[in-house]
Amino acid sequence: MNAPPTSDIDLFDDEVLLDPCPVHATLRELGPVVHLPADDVYALTRYDVIRGALADWESFSSASIAFNPVADQALAGTSLASDPPVHTQLRAALTENLTPRALRGLKGRIEAKADALVAELVERGSFEAVDALARAFPLEVVADLIGFTGHVRDNMLRWGQAAMQVLGPMNQRTADNFPIAGELYAWCSEVTGGDLAEGSVGRGIFDAEARGAIPEGAAGQIIHQYLGAGVDTTVAAIGNVVALFAAHPGALDAVRTEPALIPGAFNEVLRYWPPVNVWGRVTTRDVEIEETVIPAGAQVALLLGSGNRDPRHYEDPDSFLLERNPADHLAFGYGPHGCAGQGLARLEAHAVIAALSRRVKRLVAGDEVRVPGNVTRAIEKLPVLQVVPA
Ligand code: HEM
Repeated sequence: MNAPPTSDIDLFDDEVLLDPCPVHATLRELGPVVHLPADDVYALTRYDVIRGALADWESFSSASIAFNPVADQALAGTSLASDPPVHTQLRAALTENLTPRALRGLKGRIEAKADALVAELVERGSFEAVDALARAFPLEVVADLIGFTGHVRDNMLRWGQAAMQVLGPMNQRTADNFPIAGELYAWCSEVTGGDLAEGSVGRGIFDAEARGAIPEGAAGQIIHQYLGAGVDTTVAAIGNVVALFAAHPGALDAVRTEPALIPGAFNEVLRYWPPVNVWGRVTTRDVEIEETVIPAGAQVALLLGSGNRDPRHYEDPDSFLLERNPADHLAFGYGPHGCAGQGLARLEAHAVIAALSRRVKRLVAGDEVRVPGNVTRAIEKLPVLQVVPA
């Protein structure tokens, strides 16, 4: 049995974070597992091995989803960072309010909000799409869902971004964001049901805790996970929707003519530009992958974005094909930890795509601005210069 190939690539280098695709292609060619001493990780590069690792929680533990020990410690005991059987219980409480049945009641409201927001932007004729749509819309949806009011609402974006940034290695971005992620943590450990709007899902979670339906202290933790995992990712996804629909002029016409294409189109956005490119696991034993071994106790980097562009799995992976419908993409993970909020994320994105396609024929966008992020890859600014109404 051999050691995996080694590369001097640093996954968290600014240039790599801005555009990881070329580096992913290099690593995939080196092998399904590549040791990266610069980050002290074993990177899984190909679709099959990444999906296999996500399913195999007995070999690939969630005890280290982050790339620094402080963040892992802070997450200990949460659903995200635990393995079955503890995880199974925590996840049940977490997902109760995110099931298709629970979300059915929100669908009409979310669609109406998306439509109103898009109508206003079409009226304006030009706008900066990240602030005006990609951030504004999910922030409003999640704030209403949890029942946030006042200053917490204003802090959601900062807190949500910081919660993802601190999962990186101990670089400057991580250090700068720890105090902000700490504000979220402190708020979640003090918040009570009375702080959240009456009738909101958030208030319901605290009521469940008061009834003893979920363990004491679980309610604050659930809110923490909704905010930490559900804000920055969805903002990135909606920004990517706008950018990719603007870059492919026939796309809005296609989904207007055939709205059944919308779920598949969003899958393709997530495959092509996944909000989360890299995510952690730690090996619980020596793990053999195609004649090579990852030693026990090693930090693993699951390159979700690389799996999504693996030519062994997707034909012509570097093309954005609206009708591909890659329902098995890895952007939401897979297996026991597969994104608990994907129903909500889909509801939001489908509503935005539907509203855009109803009201807009073509979006003319200027150059997008990106800044490097440790875990989330998102567009920072996207000027829409002209809207051609449908
Ligand atoms: C497009 C948007 C989103 C993306 C790309 C995304 C991505 C992911 C990924 C990759 C995982 C797997 C983590 C792992 O395997 O360890 C995950 C888990 C999770 N996501 Fe999402 N997510 C999104 C939206 C949301 C939303 C809106 C929420 C909640 C309101 C949410 C809540 C969660 C939670 C709670 C988990 C942990 C589940 C568990 O530990 O079992 N996510 N997400």
